[in-house]
Amino acid sequence: MKAARLKSYGDVDQLVIDEVPTPQPQAGEVLIKIETSAVNHFDLIIRQGYAAQFIPLELPAVLGTDAAGTVIEVGAGVTGIAVGDRVIADFAHNGKGAHAEYGVAPITAIAKLAANLTFEQGATLPKAGLTGRQSVDALHVKAGDRVLISGALGTVGRAAIQYLREIGAKPVAGVRTNRLEEARQLAGEALDITETPSNAEFDYAISAVAPVAGNLIGHVRDGGHVVSIVPVPEGANTEHRVKIDEIYHSTDAETLKAVVEVASRGELTIPVAKTFRLDQLGAAQSAVANGIQGKVVLKH
Ligand SMILES: NC(=O)c1ccc[n+]([C@@H]2O[C@H](COP(=O)([O-])OP(=O)(O)OC[C@H]3O[C@@H](n4cnc5c(N)ncnc54)[C@H](OP(=O)(O)O)[C@@H]3O)[C@@H](O)[C@H]2O)c1
Repeated sequence: MKAARLKSYGDVDQLVIDEVPTPQPQAGEVLIKIETSAVNHFDLIIRQGYAAQFIPLELPAVLGTDAAGTVIEVGAGVTGIAVGDRVIADFAHNGKGAHAEYGVAPITAIAKLAANLTFEQGATLPKAGLTGRQSVDALHVKAGDRVLISGALGTVGRAAIQYLREIGAKPVAGVRTNRLEEARQLAGEALDITETPSNAEFDYAISAVAPVAGNLIGHVRDGGHVVSIVPVPEGANTEHRVKIDEIYHSTDAETLKAVVEVASRGELTIPVAKTFRLDQLGAAQSAVANGIQGKVVLKH
């Protein structure tokens, strides 16, 4: 099969197309013919080697975690997923990722893709959906609570807003000045996250943009709770005024299933910014690096 592989840590020129053996599913795993995969910010960090200390890869490695495709083989003990099922998958960062014609994933990282969603839409969902919902869960908010979200028009922000609405909480989108109207339409309420806040009125917030973390935290009252999915810059939370939990999403089939359900009902849409071919992974990663708005998807 064809796979886009990272030869060595570095720039996008280290991503090449190779012919490699098709992987075989072991017990509890399925083999997927991958139709689409998506590029995430973290893939760029991995490519450059910045995560190598805690995610060591055997190079050459196949990157990419978000995928959608069709199950073509199941390993021993697999139930609930059958050959021919359309699925989404959250591949691990183990060098055997989603940017290939075929991939193997455990059933714990898979959900069936609803018939009314395309493979392209499917590939936008895993990372954004898992992280958005788990950020909200980590805040332990209840119906009626107002929650400020930075990067609210980003992929994770959109998933968090949808989930907050689902549980009856009130999302407030923190975005740049030029996106306030768009954000109001999505979340109902929006504020300019690039401005220094004048009062700290929020009990809860989700931080998804490191450069404006100080402003986001400034909106939160003393003792309030922030969940951050990006590293919190030093000095952003002076004297530990608010409680901050940095989280990293985890794979969970039930959450993936819930994400597919809300997307299928039209409650969650992650816009696709641009599609590339599998052999254009380098250009696709560059588009993400340049701040393209929406998800970058590869059609295999
Ligand atoms: N911890 C985890 O498990 C986890 C999981 C997934 C993602 N992440 C991280 O979370 C972050 C967001 O991911 P994503 O997929 O949602 O990214 P995304 O789709 O690119 O969205 C980022 C959003 O942040 C906004 N933004 C960027 N710089 C800004 C600034 N200086 N001021 C105000 N707004 C700014 C962008 O607005 P514009 O479009 O207007 O620029 C965009 O709406 C990334 O850093 C990613 O690596 C962490």
